Amino acid sequence: MAGPLKTIALLGATGSIGGSTLDVVARHPDRFRIGALSAHGRVDELLALCARFRPDAAVVADPAGFTALRDGLHALGLPTRALAGPQALDEVATDPANDTVVAAIVGAAGVASTLAAARAGKRLLLANKESVVLAGELLMQAARAGGATLLPVDSEHNAIFQCLPADGGRGGVRRLLLTASGGPFRGRTRAELAGITPDQACAHPNWVMGRKISVDSATLMNKGLEVIEAQHLFSLPADRIEVVVHPQSIVHSLVDYVDGSVLAQLGNPDMRTALAYGLAWPERIDSGVAPLDLAALKHFDFEPPTSRPSPAWPWPTARSPLVAVRRRC
Ligand SMILES: NC(=O)c1ccc[n+]([C@@H]2O[C@H](COP(=O)([O-])OP(=O)(O)OC[C@H]3O[C@@H](n4cnc5c(N)ncnc54)[C@H](OP(=O)(O)O)[C@@H]3O)[C@@H](O)[C@H]2O)c1
Repeated sequence: MAGPLKTIALLGATGSIGGSTLDVVARHPDRFRIGALSAHGRVDELLALCARFRPDAAVVADPAGFTALRDGLHALGLPTRALAGPQALDEVATDPANDTVVAAIVGAAGVASTLAAARAGKRLLLANKESVVLAGELLMQAARAGGATLLPVDSEHNAIFQCLPADGGRGGVRRLLLTASGGPFRGRTRAELAGITPDQACAHPNWVMGRKISVDSATLMNKGLEVIEAQHLFSLPADRIEVVVHPQSIVHSLVDYVDGSVLAQLGNPDMRTALAYGLAWPERIDSGVAPLDLAALKHFDFEPPTSRPSPAWPWPTARSPLVAVRRRC
């Protein structure tokens, strides 16, 4: 029997995490309803989602999209309120009608609304890792002061959250191990990277994601962000957080305990698992993700990341093609 209906403000609804969230939500109409949806400028995509999920409010963060949103909602005959501008994101993130906020905006643009949701004591599903990287201490303070429940949905942090003691204690934890697939350019030499394009950087071998995080994964910048994210979320220093390369992306991360036990969370690489976990926590619900077929997996590989410059390894520099690709995304 599902508990009371949760009402969700989904910030970044038109993105990759937004789409995965809505896929899970649509499977459980008895548990979840959509209170608000937001986009930056893609009004047509936002309108299509409004037609399907009938939220109370829709926000276009770029004020230039307001008229198209308002008129589009009217043409669809929807009672959804049209809102625009960054302050409207804060408005729906703090609206008492929404008990859950999914922070799925990309980049620093997501920080203010994530902080606002934390201060307002929401159940906060945190995909926007930039909030934690840029304002980790503020965010943790805001969550404590507001009484928010922070639920990490970045797959690595969600895995660690699942493997840590349920009472929130860190007793017995030796270190956290974040897995990294290595991205689409793993194993290539500097010379082989000379002609890469943004589309190649975005063609991740295991995950389908938005363009910024895809490029950050290709450069391993994303793993650096995730180490910072883990320090704040799990209150552990950087020297107790390690990265291990695992190209198959089946083991999403691990916790190493002092008694020699290592707990890992495994699953097919699909963000709906982490999102379903965050949406229903502490319960578990169907996410639509296929069961893991261990026998079909030939092997798991683990290797240390390259940790010092070598001529064979492409450290991103100001002139590096990878950095140029990131700027173009
Ligand atoms: N994708 C993944 O698998 C994954 C995994 C772990 C963590 N994350 C994190 O989750 C967040 C979202 O990633 P994503 O891959 O879903 O990104 P995405 O596909 O690029 O979607 C970004 C969303 O944010 C909106 N947006 C963009 N700029 C905005 C702005 N200035 N103001 C307000 N809204 C804005 C976009 O609206 P428009 O569509 O209108 O542009 C879209 O709804 C990122 O922080 C990422 O690091 C993602």
